Amino acid sequence: MHPIYSDELNLPDAPFDAPKLNYEKPEENKNFWIIDNFFSEKQATEIANRCFMKSKWKLGKPYTSELWPGMRSKNALKKKELLQVENWIKETLKVDKLWVAESNSVVVDTNTAILVGADEGAARPHVDNRQLCRYGAVLFLSKNPKPHSGTSFYRLKYANEAAGGNLVQKPYNNLVDALNTDSLPPSAWYEDEAIENKFNRLILFKGNMVHSASSYFGKEKREKRLAITFFYMTED
Ligand SMILES: [Fe+2]
Repeated sequence: MHPIYSDELNLPDAPFDAPKLNYEKPEENKNFWIIDNFFSEKQATEIANRCFMKSKWKLGKPYTSELWPGMRSKNALKKKELLQVENWIKETLKVDKLWVAESNSVVVDTNTAILVGADEGAARPHVDNRQLCRYGAVLFLSKNPKPHSGTSFYRLKYANEAAGGNLVQKPYNNLVDALNTDSLPPSAWYEDEAIENKFNRLILFKGNMVHSASSYFGKEKREKRLAITFFYMTED
């Protein structure tokens, strides 16, 4: 668990020589969006069942040396369902065009079912590489999610407890570039805002704001945290 940021905390300034990020307060309908009951209950249940029944999964932590946790399976939504998600994103962002980045070096796991249990992972604040993603979206598909297991936003926490920023911006693509560091301790963050996990809730957010799954849960396959993730590019 990360410490929770609050304006009530009486915090010092960040050390003057420390690397900095700009800060944008996470705010619904400004940099993240939520829609509940996105599909009909029946449709969402079918989608979740289809995901659980998938036979082809890639394995992550702790089964392989991948950095991502649990297991993943591509092509989670069918074409028509995916179009519905993309249309909502376009309407919400008021853009005409969305596309999925192509990369030779990295797999863009969009429209991918992500199934992660309690013992397979924990919150890992990050940004989505700006070259590959401007907006991330998540469809939550667990019928009985644990509290505080949706998506959280974070801001830097310096060694003196000062609160820092949360954005990776041009010319940087990820946190390692932006902060000029090889690795950040997982404790270097305050949790700033948490979106609850709810069956059939779809969320959309700016991928360059530091975020993570808030937590994972479940031991048996059908009890684990199931979500479908999406990554889109838009015109700047
Ligand atoms: Fe992400």
